[in-house]
Amino acid sequence: MKVLLVGSGAREHALAWHLRRSGCVQSLYTAPGNAGTERLGTNLPIPSSDLEGLVQWAKAHRPDWVVVGPEAPLCLGLADRMTEEVGVPVLGPSKKAALLEGSKAATKELLLQEGIPTARGGFAESLPEAMRLSRKIGWPQVIKADGLAAGKGVFVVENQEQAEQVLESLLVERKLGEAGQRVVIEEFLVGEELSAFVFLYEHQMVFLGTARDYKRVGEGNRGPNTGGMGAYSPVGWATGEVIEILREKIFDPVHRALRKQGISYKGILYGGLLWNEKGPHVLEFNVRLGDPEAQVLVPLLPLSLLDLWRQAQDYELSSWSTLPSSNRVAVGVVVAARGYPEAPILGEPIEGLCPDVEVGEGKLLFLGGVRREADRGFLTCAGRVVTAVGVAQDQARARAQAYELAAQVRFPSAFFRRDIG
Ligand code: AMP
Ligand code: GLY
Repeated sequence: MKVLLVGSGAREHALAWHLRRSGCVQSLYTAPGNAGTERLGTNLPIPSSDLEGLVQWAKAHRPDWVVVGPEAPLCLGLADRMTEEVGVPVLGPSKKAALLEGSKAATKELLLQEGIPTARGGFAESLPEAMRLSRKIGWPQVIKADGLAAGKGVFVVENQEQAEQVLESLLVERKLGEAGQRVVIEEFLVGEELSAFVFLYEHQMVFLGTARDYKRVGEGNRGPNTGGMGAYSPVGWATGEVIEILREKIFDPVHRALRKQGISYKGILYGGLLWNEKGPHVLEFNVRLGDPEAQVLVPLLPLSLLDLWRQAQDYELSSWSTLPSSNRVAVGVVVAARGYPEAPILGEPIEGLCPDVEVGEGKLLFLGGVRREADRGFLTCAGRVVTAVGVAQDQARARAQAYELAAQVRFPSAFFRRDIG
């Protein structure tokens, strides 16, 4: 089987490793990939946002399956073009379905309409309308740019003055461009955050697992938001009973709402949730696996995404199932380059890097912002450089293994959070 994988982070390295391990993927092409995916297949010099380039390559090389890691190409309509113009199936939803991630306002509207629990709030397009909504909600509150903003579009504000500043910068000054031409404003919720992942294929849905990620750059959740500095899976308190509530209150209703809109979703749906005394609330949806959540989720899957896909294509799955527990825990620590997320130092040589994923017993190293040059070896090329993952029977052991591995990867500006897991 020939697979085209789209993306270039440690998530995609984890997906590449996962797919190769399934035994059925003889040729793997990653666009554009990194030094990790290069070891597992062939990297293609096509950026993940170059839809035309990807479609042309697929027309010429006829892959059997396309797996999309990041959200941007999905929001631009990559899945639609691959299915319509090339006739190749895609793990990743259509452009219309990807609005679940691509438009926070559209999602807020859907959540409110369907009675799916979420923070009290709404959306607005003009400054006066937004200020009226903001005053109604109270303090603190959260203001979110509607569109994709790579983690930079969410603001927690404490009072009216701060709210006005943020709303003006988004709606009037257009600091985030089109992404900020609409805003969602909602109450600030306090509780436990939880990421939950399902695999969807038309009417079939499989619960893949839970994870907790660490979004802030600094220990103790301080500093700016990032793509994610670490994660662990599963979340211990999210037992069968909790998962049943997630199904009833969130995943079944959103799945029904998608089908009502005529959307046949084929891909992964990731709920960014917050649990408080009233149960779960949706903070956001993503239409793909998270990075670094994929790096801790994928090693624990008892069967491959390819197996799931095949079963789903044969309509062997039901409208809800869960996977048997692996009875293991994975902790992932992101080693980043100083300056991340604003301006990471790049181009540094990396020592102690093992290009194989399985570095030792229960230790997995997924490469992210790493490229390889024939004469200079491995160099950093993005803010999040590697994810060091420990897998063990218990969290303490998994955590220790992840940190042992993280400490082995050395480059001058390397840093990582010491409080993951
Ligand atoms: P989002 O991109 O919507 O998931 O927001 C990014 C992060 O902001 C979340 O992971 C939460 O930590 C935080 N956040 C978003 N919405 C809320 C909310 N209503 N109350 C509290 N924290 C929130
Ligand atoms: N780690 C958060 C995300 O991938 O969106």
